[in-house]
Amino acid sequence: MIKIDIDNFHLLSKKRKAEIFKEHPEDLLELIEPLLDKKRFLHTKSVAEVAVKLAKIHHVDENKAYLAGILHDITKGLSDDEHIAILKAYDLIRLKNPKPIWHSYSAVYYIKEKLNLYDGDILNAIYHHTDGLSNSKLAMIIYIADKREPLRKIDDHILEHAYVDLYKAFRELKIDVMRYVHDKQKAN
Ligand SMILES: [Fe+2]
Repeated sequence: MIKIDIDNFHLLSKKRKAEIFKEHPEDLLELIEPLLDKKRFLHTKSVAEVAVKLAKIHHVDENKAYLAGILHDITKGLSDDEHIAILKAYDLIRLKNPKPIWHSYSAVYYIKEKLNLYDGDILNAIYHHTDGLSNSKLAMIIYIADKREPLRKIDDHILEHAYVDLYKAFRELKIDVMRYVHDKQKAN
């Protein structure tokens, strides 16, 4: 079978693409790996693992959680110019956001274009994985999994709480992120 990559994936038949998304989403890892540095790739897999665990507990589609997990940082390795080109074409307003979060917006258009994946739940979770502005269960799961997957080695109880009460953990994490941003701004 031909090795899939980011440039040939869209050439697969609609049926084959659907089959990969539904039955063999882990096959997408070979397509994602060359796009990210090693650390980011390991983070990506770890986010997906945590997301699936949370999805199982909170009755969210596990397949969607896995896909959102492995795809959430897919554009993290693009250059500023590449992000600008995508956002200028589709989502100009987002260029007003800080550069480190551009990738969460550009990812959505990149995924539609390169993978022809249009699932609204998955794309919404990815779009909001850095701003935390969606209260959908899948989006909350990806937001928490991204910031508290074990490789980040952050020593608090937010992930533990998320297994019990997703909403409470989401609120806790948002407060923690706001505090972090505030402290950083104060330091500069
Ligand atoms: Fe991430």
